[in-house]
Amino acid sequence: MPSLFDSYVLGPVHLKNRIVLPPMTRTRTSEGDLPTDGDVPNELMATYYGQRAGAGLIITEATDVDPSGHGYARTPGIHSEAQMRGWRLVTAEVHRHGGTAFTQLWHVGRLAHSSLLPNRQAPMGDRGRDAHC
Ligand SMILES: Cc1cc2nc3c(=O)[nH]c(=O)nc-3n(C[C@H](O)[C@H](O)[C@H](O)COP(=O)(O)O)c2cc1C
Repeated sequence: MPSLFDSYVLGPVHLKNRIVLPPMTRTRTSEGDLPTDGDVPNELMATYYGQRAGAGLIITEATDVDPSGHGYARTPGIHSEAQMRGWRLVTAEVHRHGGTAFTQLWHVGRLAHSSLLPNRQAPMGDRGRDAHC
C-alpha cells in the first residue's frame, strides 16, 4: 500500500510525493503598468508557492485565460506578457525548491463585473441581454 510520501508518476510528470496543494485564490497580484497587463503575479506569490514546493504537486490559484474572464480584483491572468513574466518568477522559485506546479485555468463567465473588465464592458454571459429585454 503506497503512502502519501511515496512518489507518483502522473503521465510525463514525476511527482516526489502524493501531496497536492489545491488551487486557492489568494488575491495577491500586483497591478500591471499598462491596462492591458492585467493583474500580474509577483515576488510575494513566488515566495508563497516556493514555500509550498514540498508538496508533490502544486495547482496554482485560478488564473484568467483572457481579460474578459476576470472575476475578482487582484487575481492573476496568463494572457499578457507581463503576467507570463510574473509566472516565470513563480515557477522558477517552485523549481528551485524541487517542486512541480500546474496552473488552474479559468474564465469566470457571467460571474465577472463591469468594474473589473476592460472598458467597463459587461460580463461575457450578460452581453446583449439589454437588447433582448
Ligand atoms: C466552493 C468554493 C470553491 C472554490 N474553488 C476555487 C477554485 O476552483 N480555484 C481557486 O483558486 N479558488 C477557489 N476557491 C477559493 C479558495 O478556496 C479560497 O482561496 C480559500 O478557500 C481561502 O482559504 P483561506 O482564506 O482559509 O486561506 C473556492 C472557494 C469556495 C468556497
